[in-house]
Amino acid sequence: MNFNVSLKRVVDDSYDIQTGYGLLDSLVSDLEAGLVGSRKRLAVITDDTVDRLYSAQLMKRLADAGFKADKFVIPSGEKSKTRQMKERIEDEMLEKGFRRDCAVIAFGGGVVTDLAGFTAGTFARGVPFVNYATTLLAAADASVGGKTAVDTPLATNLIGLFNQPKKVYIDIATWKTLPKEQLSSGLAETIKHGCLGDRELFEYLEKNIEKVFDCDSEVCEYISQRNCEVKYRVVMQDERESGLREVLNLGHTVGRALETAADYKLLHGQAVAVGLVAQARLGEKLGFISKQNVQRVIELCKRAELPVTVPDYVELNELLDKLYTDKKVRDGKLRFVFQHEIGQMMCFGENEYGKQISREQIADVLSGM
Ligand SMILES: NC(=O)c1ccc[n+]([C@@H]2O[C@H](COP(=O)([O-])OP(=O)(O)OC[C@H]3O[C@@H](n4cnc5c(N)ncnc54)[C@H](O)[C@@H]3O)[C@@H](O)[C@H]2O)c1
Repeated sequence: MNFNVSLKRVVDDSYDIQTGYGLLDSLVSDLEAGLVGSRKRLAVITDDTVDRLYSAQLMKRLADAGFKADKFVIPSGEKSKTRQMKERIEDEMLEKGFRRDCAVIAFGGGVVTDLAGFTAGTFARGVPFVNYATTLLAAADASVGGKTAVDTPLATNLIGLFNQPKKVYIDIATWKTLPKEQLSSGLAETIKHGCLGDRELFEYLEKNIEKVFDCDSEVCEYISQRNCEVKYRVVMQDERESGLREVLNLGHTVGRALETAADYKLLHGQAVAVGLVAQARLGEKLGFISKQNVQRVIELCKRAELPVTVPDYVELNELLDKLYTDKKVRDGKLRFVFQHEIGQMMCFGENEYGKQISREQIADVLSGM
């Protein structure tokens, strides 16, 4: 006998991104207005740095508004983005009586939003979550777009879900407490957006990049908005990364491999900057970008105080091996995405943005960096 289980779904996962200064009141009033339905039980997932700086204000506001919120605090840094940490949070949530009628608030940078979004996606088969981003990197990239994941010993982000938040809050006021190297790290994803889809943003950064370190409000607001626009132009067309979304991976083939090969001594954005330079140098050899524009990419990364060469302590062969953990690998062959000059991507066929690259080709570039 054969039964057809007909389960066609029409899903509307649209959501708002709010950018501004001090958005805790907005978050609480949105929750009161039903952002996560009638749920009153909230799991606030954060890390110990953000906890120390900001969570008392959040917890008080939630309690005052009648929500029953508990905090789940992880040690800050990439090494917390693991299956083990997810399990620890889940067990603590279960012990504290959390069930299906709860929602998750991810309160922090990209490590927190990736881990909390993934946890929300599987807890009790999925509960709603919101992202409250407190780093430039999370604002520029991690908190928007719906990719959630944890790292494994083999490589970053290999286990995860596409899971869209109910809303994203980008609180620029929190950037004031970010260490300079964290602002630099976020700038790498911002430069990436300029390279891949927004020449005006790139040129704006060429004029103003240092002002980000002073948290200049006009500049921070401008880059927040442009980052979201670039990312959304791409994600709205290809949520599940079946083609176009691969362009957001610019610089990440080498960047991700370098993160693990360097045992996370480099921040995500620092590794991405090296990856951006690597794809630009390789792109120059392949005729996709002029020598002058490669220099502009390198110069902008340097002004953002980002590394532009592979650190000496990274062994080239180990780095090359790690490249093969990339999600774009097809039939065991490396594929790279490339910028076309400044502000556009190379397209290699219908909905085809990746180009096959041999180990020797990329080894040649990396060994010279
Ligand atoms: N899902 C995606 O699409 C996507 C895209 C890009 C990056 N990512 C992921 O994002 C992560 C990197 O994000 P990140 O750089 O925000 O990492 P992070 O969450 O580790 O934050 C960086 C550091 O800043 C601290 N911090 C956070 N907010 C602060 C504040 N306001 N003031 C002072 N310190 C603060 C944190 O405690 C941490 O030490 C990586 O895991 C990367 O894989 C995901």
